[in-house]
Amino acid sequence: MRLPPLSLYIHFPWCEQKCPYCDFNSHELNQPLEETVYIDQLLIDLSSQHCFLFGRTVSSIFMGGGTPSLFSPESIERLLVGIKQIVTLTENVEITLEANPGSVESSKFSGYLAAGINRLSIGIQSFQDQKLQSLGRIHTGREAYEAYAIARQCGFENINLDLMHGLPNQSVHDALFDLREAINLNVNHISWYQLTIEPKTIFARNTPLLPNDLILGDIEQKGLAMLHDATYARYEISAYARQGFECRHNINYWKFGDYLGIGAGAHGKISETHTGQIFRSSRPRQPRLYLRKNAFKALNRTAVLEADRAAEFLMNTLRLIAGVDFDTYEDYTNMSINTIQEGVKHFQNLGLWQDNKIALTQNGLRHLDSIVAHFL
Ligand SMILES: C[S@@+](CC[C@H](N)C(=O)[O-])C[C@H]1O[C@@H](n2cnc3c(N)ncnc32)[C@H](O)[C@@H]1O
Ligand code: SF4
Repeated sequence: MRLPPLSLYIHFPWCEQKCPYCDFNSHELNQPLEETVYIDQLLIDLSSQHCFLFGRTVSSIFMGGGTPSLFSPESIERLLVGIKQIVTLTENVEITLEANPGSVESSKFSGYLAAGINRLSIGIQSFQDQKLQSLGRIHTGREAYEAYAIARQCGFENINLDLMHGLPNQSVHDALFDLREAINLNVNHISWYQLTIEPKTIFARNTPLLPNDLILGDIEQKGLAMLHDATYARYEISAYARQGFECRHNINYWKFGDYLGIGAGAHGKISETHTGQIFRSSRPRQPRLYLRKNAFKALNRTAVLEADRAAEFLMNTLRLIAGVDFDTYEDYTNMSINTIQEGVKHFQNLGLWQDNKIALTQNGLRHLDSIVAHFL
């Protein structure tokens, strides 16, 4: 077994308003945000996991949500200062913060940069007001352009824009318009997601009219060509980057790397060479429960069974366009490649799996879920 890089994920569970398509652990904020209390608890949470680190350094941090940009730059700075007192960060550590467009949020960007954030991920979704309204977003298209412009003016260079397509009543033209606008901004990273209807969301109960498969196929084919022509390399199913701007934090997840998770509902995964085990941990989803005193007294870790390791590994690594080599499988799962050889051959014969590595073909990527299910 070889240890993968170690990342730190920090969850911020509140949003101004819950979007009808969203199944992330996000809760509408209906009382004043108690920033200090939450930051204190995050640091207690991290300290409680220090014993599992055995001197390892953290190479990336991702502050995700919810809406981390509800928090002030002062709080984010205090958090980062506190983190550095508990764990060692690598010299060129990548530190991402997810931000929502909106004038209040954007006014904080320069403070985040000064606090040590060096990558911003902005949830644009669409540049068109009518589409934003259909998604229940509380910002306008104009605020989306402004958020990006302000981020650049402040000095952020490493920026991601989240866009969604396959939106209610969306035409091919509308979807490509959003993509073209992002490309014209010359942003270095684009996450281009197809809207999915998630169980227990408002959209699941009351589903709007979505584009049919023919339109979706056309959007995907033309969108991929557009991104390619504009020199964005697709390195994961939904992630496109100019060279050198790939998200190192997410790549670590997709390579079955290790991560500490702090914050309400955050998950962690830690490998141990001395036991040969891989442990998963999780935190209470409800902010109220997460903020309870002694919330981290119990260890709350479970070992990943050998029977589950192959599927868990493939669920992540097969999302990467370049995939990984066979050695990475043996190193990070602590199992022999023989455990998946038969399945690999089967999908290679069907033309869905690439030769000599753990990676799907273009056609295989369309069947990712059923291919992973084969290894369960
Ligand atoms: C953690 S989420 C939210 C980040 C931020 N709070 C926001 O909404 O801008 C990250 C991204 O996932 C995408 N996303 C969320 N729900 C989705 C869904 N049901 N289908 C496809 N993409 C989704 C959105 O593009 C979103 O920006
Ligand atoms: S999509 Fe973003 S802003 Fe909307 S509820 Fe989910 S986390 Fe909050």
